[in-house]
Amino acid sequence: MLPNVLQPSATDHVPVLADEVRELLELHPGDTVVDATFGAGGHASVLAEDLRGQGKLIAIDRDPNVRPYFERLRRRLGVQARFLRGEFSIVLGQLAANDVRADAILLDLGVSSMQLDRPERGFSYATDAPLDMRMDPGSEPSAAELVNEAGERELETIFRRYGEERYARQIARAIVRRRKSQPFGRTGELVDTIRAAIPAPARFGDGHPAKRVFQALRIAVNDELGELERALPAAVQMLRPGGRIAVISFHSLEDRAVKHFFREEERGCTCPPDFPVCVCGNEPVLRVLTRRAVRPSAAETSVNPRAASARLRAAEKA
Ligand SMILES: C[S@@+](CC[C@H](N)C(=O)[O-])C[C@H]1O[C@@H](n2cnc3c(N)ncnc32)[C@H](O)[C@@H]1O
Repeated sequence: MLPNVLQPSATDHVPVLADEVRELLELHPGDTVVDATFGAGGHASVLAEDLRGQGKLIAIDRDPNVRPYFERLRRRLGVQARFLRGEFSIVLGQLAANDVRADAILLDLGVSSMQLDRPERGFSYATDAPLDMRMDPGSEPSAAELVNEAGERELETIFRRYGEERYARQIARAIVRRRKSQPFGRTGELVDTIRAAIPAPARFGDGHPAKRVFQALRIAVNDELGELERALPAAVQMLRPGGRIAVISFHSLEDRAVKHFFREEERGCTCPPDFPVCVCGNEPVLRVLTRRAVRPSAAETSVNPRAASARLRAAEKA
């Protein structure tokens, strides 16, 4: 019997923008699909259905706790399925280097409900738990290490850049002051320090006062933007001509990175705009399928409020 924390639960499976992803990836029987952010397998399950019993699913995730979800899905699927644990930037690069080709690749970025809702993973400001936030519990640093060891300036930059936190400086200063006498070990300690560091009126507006700092720490701990920037070229290299990539992001920095990458790969030519003719000879690599990011419908966000900030972009390999 699996321990409770590893047991799939009903609320784990609410794939965001699932119909839109399915339409954009346009899978056919016999295709190979890579779900680079397997999570609880919600998208993988929907996409594998389109293979109609013929084809291959490659599932990637850095979190070892998703394996039972994969095993359960594999038993149900009529297609070949493999699970590869690791960072998607590395795994996609290794697959591409080994000439494994895909017809469709999905990246559904960020944390899963499963990670957020399990207090012991330390992602949530709502319950007191160890301050961890690692998607891969074997990686470094944990959120506690980052909060206890990073310089005040670095913490401020993290909170401002990844969390758009107005009181980044005050919070960073309060953290550094407190850790001199008592290092942080638990989410509750960090929440109390954030609350005390910001002006009283700000403690009540715009959601929980620790929301933005927790988001920022999570992005930094898991190097989420670095992972995305390294993964996109590897994913495109893995695609067969005509193959498609879809990326769901939940943060404007991620969405911007995807938009710019797709645009550059569609442009191909890297000559300065004032050159009369192309001398670089670079051909377009992608054709963008979503001029504007696709956003969830009101109907979707009413049943799954976590979908509200999702943005989907997709492109096809030329
Ligand atoms: C939003 S969830 C995916 C949910 C999934 N689409 C579903 O329908 O159940 C993101 C998942 O991707 C994983 N993940 C995020 N960044 C990753 C990375 N750089 N490498 C590998 N896995 C990553 C997380 O551990 C998490 O399980």
